[in-house]
Amino acid sequence: MSLIKEIIKEAQEKKYAFGTFDTSNLEVAQGIARAAEVENMPAMIGITETAAEYAGFLPLVNLIKGIIAESKADLILHLDHGKDVKFVKKCIDEGFTSVMIDASFYEFEKNIEITKNVVDYAHQKGVVVQAELGKIPKMKSSTEVGTTLKKMEKTDPDEIEEFVEKTGVDTLAVIVGNIHGMYKPEGNPHLDLDLLKKLREKVETPFVLHGGSGTPSEDIKKAIAECGIINVNIDTEIRIAFMGALSDFCASGQMVTDPRKILSLARDAVQEKVEEKIELFGCGK
Ligand code: G3H
Ligand code: ZN
Repeated sequence: MSLIKEIIKEAQEKKYAFGTFDTSNLEVAQGIARAAEVENMPAMIGITETAAEYAGFLPLVNLIKGIIAESKADLILHLDHGKDVKFVKKCIDEGFTSVMIDASFYEFEKNIEITKNVVDYAHQKGVVVQAELGKIPKMKSSTEVGTTLKKMEKTDPDEIEEFVEKTGVDTLAVIVGNIHGMYKPEGNPHLDLDLLKKLREKVETPFVLHGGSGTPSEDIKKAIAECGIINVNIDTEIRIAFMGALSDFCASGQMVTDPRKILSLARDAVQEKVEEKIELFGCGK
């Protein structure tokens, strides 16, 4: 059994979740790996298409592969929110053992068709596929509280069985009140745990929670312990930790000529944030 399949199985059995933490650079990837090692918990290091555009596909992928190879922790290189089927297949060919195909912006039937296409390709190579059902909104600015860009469409309990059956997907990102980015202060940040339980009753597929930043810890704990969430995605809070460390340093007025002196502070801040999240997600372990 591949490492990612073992990680999923153990999370299901022991009712904890592992994190997926996104990166587009060296220091964030190192911070994630170091945190997983300290906490002795598995984690996925996620990249997106835009991260690959920023850093270059092979430079970013090989950087993360190197970090994973040197780490004592069980780490998985994962494609997060793959929207282009060609790009998803490129990642599979490059040795990713876990990919997400996100065709959730299409209508139901089209989402099934695209997801199934990726699942067929991935499963031939033993690669695990995550898909999304429902539409997750995104805050206008992912690092600031603000207005949402899209309307939320929660996962429909009447669609989930058909989706899982027709696609053969390994894990499923469900939309139950979760949002990408930080929430509006006046909004309702709580997860719809009743809906999540209803979805859980319909299928046995392990669930993934996206938009983990800003979600109340109590909701996350319940979603993991009672509703079959085995994987939580965090991006924005990592960016905030990274940028906070950089801003604090700049505000201190100190001058350095070696960028590593500043970037290592940002790496430490990421590690601290990821350790905090891993401890929260490992509530059942
Ligand atoms: O796919 C990425 C995640 O869902 C991250 O969401 O930025 O709200 O933590 P977040
Ligand atoms: Zn997401």
